[in-house]
Amino acid sequence: MKADEGISVGLMGLGVVGSGVARTLLQKAGALARLVGRPLVLRRVLVRDLHKPRTVEVPRALLTTNPEELLANDDVDVVVELMGGEHPALEYLQRALAAGKHVVTANKEVLAKHGAVLLDQASAKGLHLRFEASVGGGIPIIGPLTRDLLGNEISSIRAIINGTTNYILTRMARDKVDYATALREAQGLGYAEADPTNDVEGIDAAYKLAILATLAFRTRVHATDVYREGITRLEAKDFRYAHELGYQIKLLAIGRQVNGAVQLRVHPAMVPLETSLAKVDGAYNAVEVEGDLAGKVMFHGLGAGALPTTSAVVGDLLEIARLLAANAPVVQRLALDPDSHVCPMDDLVTQYYMRLNVADRSGVLAQIGRILGDLDISIASVIQKDADRRTGTAELVIMTHPGREAAVQEAWRQVARLGVTDRLNTLIRVEAA
Ligand SMILES: NC(=O)c1ccc[n+]([C@@H]2O[C@H](COP(=O)([O-])OP(=O)(O)OC[C@H]3O[C@@H](n4cnc5c(N)ncnc54)[C@H](OP(=O)(O)O)[C@@H]3O)[C@@H](O)[C@H]2O)c1
Repeated sequence: MKADEGISVGLMGLGVVGSGVARTLLQKAGALARLVGRPLVLRRVLVRDLHKPRTVEVPRALLTTNPEELLANDDVDVVVELMGGEHPALEYLQRALAAGKHVVTANKEVLAKHGAVLLDQASAKGLHLRFEASVGGGIPIIGPLTRDLLGNEISSIRAIINGTTNYILTRMARDKVDYATALREAQGLGYAEADPTNDVEGIDAAYKLAILATLAFRTRVHATDVYREGITRLEAKDFRYAHELGYQIKLLAIGRQVNGAVQLRVHPAMVPLETSLAKVDGAYNAVEVEGDLAGKVMFHGLGAGALPTTSAVVGDLLEIARLLAANAPVVQRLALDPDSHVCPMDDLVTQYYMRLNVADRSGVLAQIGRILGDLDISIASVIQKDADRRTGTAELVIMTHPGREAAVQEAWRQVARLGVTDRLNTLIRVEAA
């Protein structure tokens, strides 16, 4: 970039988010130039298909299917990667950094799997790498964690960071529809993809938690370090029972400092009805961060969609552009703690909700109680729900006092082997307020 010139942007991807970013760069060019002090120039746009109809009018001459026109182009100062997927996005990002280009990306998968390597590469080359849009769409959370809350020791993050599952769970809780119906609706509304695995199995939320935890706990976290359970086993009646007990069910992404290690998990959780997290509904996202100085801080907003995500990408781009225009040095934002590590899920201690169908005869509850007692899990309450005369079974809902995850899983296995259970239905961890 020459002193009197604009800052050139190479955009990779012109889909949902890329179109929003291109439109903003083209339509708000004057306002953005005033903010930066120089024009932001859209130099090249990488796509797969040159002939696809677009929702944004980008001059035909800017479109290319050849990544070299961005990566090997000395005129491109900042690469904005909005293609998604692990490959070839990872290789393009590495090549962009190797070629001395600053990078903005919304790619949670690449960051959750290779974020630390990319940050090291950017830092070694004195380049900016920004990824606000990778978590929580339009909600500012990466900026606060890496800047505003930096003086805090973060003790926990609890987040609803997948809008698709939150929409499904909200429909199941509020309108009592079953899982399959709620999923079909989410697909019809464009919230869920035809193959919803990444969302409903908690993979997307685990990617985002890995990114947040790396920043919050300054720990090298890989996506596979996050324990993960999806929402597919939940039934409408779990929401009814949870409500009766004073809880809402949410897919939570939880990161917590426990005795010098970091606990990371994504799973359905029962959250007290009166808490802010229990009230985050529909496609909304929320991230609650607790720090020793700031206390509990809550970030809430639209976690996806073209415009909210564009807001985050353009914010990153403007920050980089302003620093470049001011000739400011790149600040190394993150020093990871080499001693910090992720602790095993087995060590988790929490309360559990258990729903199971058992033979409706005397002595069964005593047998289950003995298994739990032998494993040091004490029962807080047992409620017998519907009895089914036809099958001779009754449904039990057991709430435990805090117990160890490893013991609870072992108890669950032993109860299954007793031969008195028709079905082991649901095991849900309970989150305190
Ligand atoms: N959508 C959201 O609400 C949202 C929210 C937060 C974060 N994100 C993240 O933002 C990124 C983009 O998501 P999106 O929803 O905008 O995706 P999308 O609609 O599927 O768009 C992807 C774009 O990338 C292009 N592309 C994909 N692979 C390519 C390749 N190998 N070579 C050249 N071009 C390629 C496609 O080209 P063609 O158009 O020619 O096919 C398309 O324009 C992802 O990392 C996603 O996780 C999205």
